[in-house]
Amino acid sequence: MLNWDDPLAKFKQTPAVGYTRAMLASEALATLQQVEEDRGTTVAEINTAPVAVDALSGVTGLEQVEFGARRLAVDDKQMINCRADLNQLVPFKYKWAWQKYLNACANHWMPQEINMTADIALWKSRDGLTDDERTIIKRNLGFFSTADSLVANNLVLAVYRHITNPECRQYLLRQAFEEALHTHAYQYCVESLGLDEAEIFNMYREIPAIHDKAAWAMRFTESLGDPLFRTGTPAADQRLLRDLIAFYVVFEGIFFYVGFVQVLSMGRRNKMTGVAEQFQYILRDESMHMNFGIDVINQIKVENPHLWTEDFQREIAKLIDDAILFEISYAQDSMPRGILGLNANMFEEYLHYIANRRCSQIGLSEQYPGATNPFPWMSELIDLKKEKNFFETRVTEYQTGGALSWD
Ligand SMILES: [Fe+2]
Ligand SMILES: [Fe+2]
Repeated sequence: MLNWDDPLAKFKQTPAVGYTRAMLASEALATLQQVEEDRGTTVAEINTAPVAVDALSGVTGLEQVEFGARRLAVDDKQMINCRADLNQLVPFKYKWAWQKYLNACANHWMPQEINMTADIALWKSRDGLTDDERTIIKRNLGFFSTADSLVANNLVLAVYRHITNPECRQYLLRQAFEEALHTHAYQYCVESLGLDEAEIFNMYREIPAIHDKAAWAMRFTESLGDPLFRTGTPAADQRLLRDLIAFYVVFEGIFFYVGFVQVLSMGRRNKMTGVAEQFQYILRDESMHMNFGIDVINQIKVENPHLWTEDFQREIAKLIDDAILFEISYAQDSMPRGILGLNANMFEEYLHYIANRRCSQIGLSEQYPGATNPFPWMSELIDLKKEKNFFETRVTEYQTGGALSWD
């Protein structure tokens, strides 16, 4: 009789003398076959596994533990296509990645810690908000509630196995958790305000301006999500680099920013301050994600300069230019009339301004010369360190537990 809580429990016991590993393995396989038969699947389906195993060979760091091998040296480490042991965090090669991991952990927060009482009262009061203001909240919850899942899936299912460095993977694991927190935060806002969750979570399939951004990003994940995809050729390495730029520079670095400006503008006017505070914490996380991604992209370029060809640079500049058009159309859809001192022209200028910054951060020339920042307060928010947050309810840069600082 199988123990359904732990079918392999008996194999975890210390084997008796003479009870070889091969015997354990064959018994374990028999148990696995029994479980699969009970589930109505066949052993043939299990046998498709080696294909996936082959595809992973060399990237998991689990293929073999080479007994007595030479100890790992810093120079053995590489951002991609590393064939050295991936299970040894130290010695650090990319200290900035470890530092970002520590910074991210020091900024831990949870959505339920933020008081939503004023938002609930305002949302439910008949005259508390205009229709345009309600549209801003709903459209942004609609976009972000699925966008952060797209980012998390891209990280875990596409990017993670191809970044062959333990300290960067450590940060990626932290980032993946933060993306889960962000999805949680949006769900918490939807629940607190009593919104129609099906309406919000289906916007990426029902509202064209939201769909276009999600569909644009999805194709990059799909490109890498193929289990047989491997890096190691210039074309494949460019495919990975393209995905990293699409997600870190465009999706998290451009597609999030109209929404951030809109919701934080409401908070600045003392409206929906709980939702705005959630977005402010998320903005702080996201700016760190983007900066980490840009560091990874630049490190890959340093280690693989042959990838950064003139053609590839032109392709990336075009990719960013196309993305800006999607984000402008999102600004128009989510805010069809000028409110809160904002209008669509200002967003176009802002997007050109941040696109210039993103381009120069990855070594491309600025694509929109002379663009200026119509929202300088956004930069102040992002750069705020050890200050009370914008809404003066709590500090934005804080440590968890006993190290929490309220100064
Ligand atoms: Fe996120
Ligand atoms: Fe993110």
